[in-house]
Amino acid sequence: MFPMMNKAQGAALELAMNYVLKDPAHNLSRLVDVVEKLDITGEHASQIAVVRPMAADPENNWNKFVVKLCQEIDPEVLKATVRNFFLNASVLGMRKQEESRQKYGCNIPWAILMDPTSACNLHCTGCWAAEYGNKLNMSYEELDSIINQANELGTYFFLYSGGEPLVRKKDIIQLCEAHPDCQFTAFTNGTLIDEQFADDMLRVKNFIPAISVEGFEEDTDFRRGSGTFAQVERAMKLLREKKLPFGISCCYTSKNVEMIGSEEYFDQMVAWGARFCWFFTYMPVGSEAVPELMVSATQRKFMYEQVRKFRDTKPLFTLDFWNDGEYAGGCLAGGRTYLHINANGDYEPCAFIHYSDTNVRTHTLLQALQAPLFTTYREGQPWNGNHLRPCPLLDNPQALVDAVERSGAHSTDLRPRRMCGTWRPSAKGRRPTGPRWRTSCGRAPTAVPPAPGAERARAHKPALRPKSGPR
Ligand SMILES: C[S@@+](CC[C@H](N)C(=O)[O-])C[C@H]1O[C@@H](n2cnc3c(N)ncnc32)[C@H](O)[C@@H]1O
Ligand code: SF4
Repeated sequence: MFPMMNKAQGAALELAMNYVLKDPAHNLSRLVDVVEKLDITGEHASQIAVVRPMAADPENNWNKFVVKLCQEIDPEVLKATVRNFFLNASVLGMRKQEESRQKYGCNIPWAILMDPTSACNLHCTGCWAAEYGNKLNMSYEELDSIINQANELGTYFFLYSGGEPLVRKKDIIQLCEAHPDCQFTAFTNGTLIDEQFADDMLRVKNFIPAISVEGFEEDTDFRRGSGTFAQVERAMKLLREKKLPFGISCCYTSKNVEMIGSEEYFDQMVAWGARFCWFFTYMPVGSEAVPELMVSATQRKFMYEQVRKFRDTKPLFTLDFWNDGEYAGGCLAGGRTYLHINANGDYEPCAFIHYSDTNVRTHTLLQALQAPLFTTYREGQPWNGNHLRPCPLLDNPQALVDAVERSGAHSTDLRPRRMCGTWRPSAKGRRPTGPRWRTSCGRAPTAVPPAPGAERARAHKPALRPKSGPR
């Protein structure tokens, strides 16, 4: 039941979790004690030191957050999340990941994002996934094999995207059952969540969806199509009633950022019953990119400040994929913290970076991590010293050009590219306003060339030695 722990450790954890569930406001510290004992190398000591006073203070926002979780979420699902996400994927998994990093001399990710399918029942404006077309699929066996290979390296956290991943919901549930020690989540448009799926989630306990919403009804339906908001609210109600945890995924754009960053919207997410929210800034990816949807520098700063303010006061765990570069030490991609495998099986550094030099049908996960594209990423990260401009696509386009050229990676998009001509004009007026922001984002990318060998070269090249990493 606890493959990453011995029997005694597993029993101590189970005991501590039951004790916390009895009186979470006062007993939370006991769980912190057990986690501290499991962290034998002390590598999480600084995080534990931050969490300990919160756990001891019933008035603390995060203490209240946990109390609410204990009252509102199915206890067995909650326990599975502590075991799989916090211990297997993080405290214990990170130790194993570091051992693998030393052993193999390459990045080992904490999380893997996979697209089971490129098929989707919606057609949202500016969707990055549209570039892959809608006919690609990874087989169950391929997904299963990646999870097994990843476990060997120490990775226990898997995210699905797409396309709409719940088009493959039977396979997703089967994979949860086959890997009860792993944590799974999916970015989903929410429209395919029904009673049967919710019951399956309750049974397997290790799947937590992140439902995409773009604000309130007007903004969501503007981007996702009429009637989508109503379907999303229906899915959230169902999950709430079943005491199932879920989160939200928000893509903020020039059009909805004031709403997404408003207190009213944060309160709405809490009222819906969401426990976490992923924020993504709109990325101008692909031939249908809408550069006008990119946020201005002022809008970005607004979002940065709002997210930090509400972290102290709202019972909602938030992550801002771009603005949290400061916490993550820059770009997470290329296997440093995560990597993406698209529905064609191409290993890509990031969901927004559609280049690859390896594929699941020709390369193991480890071979992909050791191949030139990810190696070049490892050498180049962080792409500069300012973690407020972490992204090679938005903030350091020359670094991306270099990484693609040096690795000989090919474009994984199915549609023809329309690069700098589209983006350059949008850079106007997007430069940041204050000194801290002057060199940071809000800037549209310059050209990213079609990779050598051009659009979707299916023949995968043998490993090339990378030249030294980009500056
Ligand atoms: C591509 S979707 C795929 C999963 C699922 N169909 C969904 O809608 O959540 C994953 C997430 O990426 C976000 N997204 C789509 N296009 C984007 C873009 N160009 N820039 C940033 N985020 C984007 C979506 O809003 C969604 O939350
Ligand atoms: S954002 Fe999600 S739901 Fe919308 S078109 Fe893209 S894949 Fe489909």
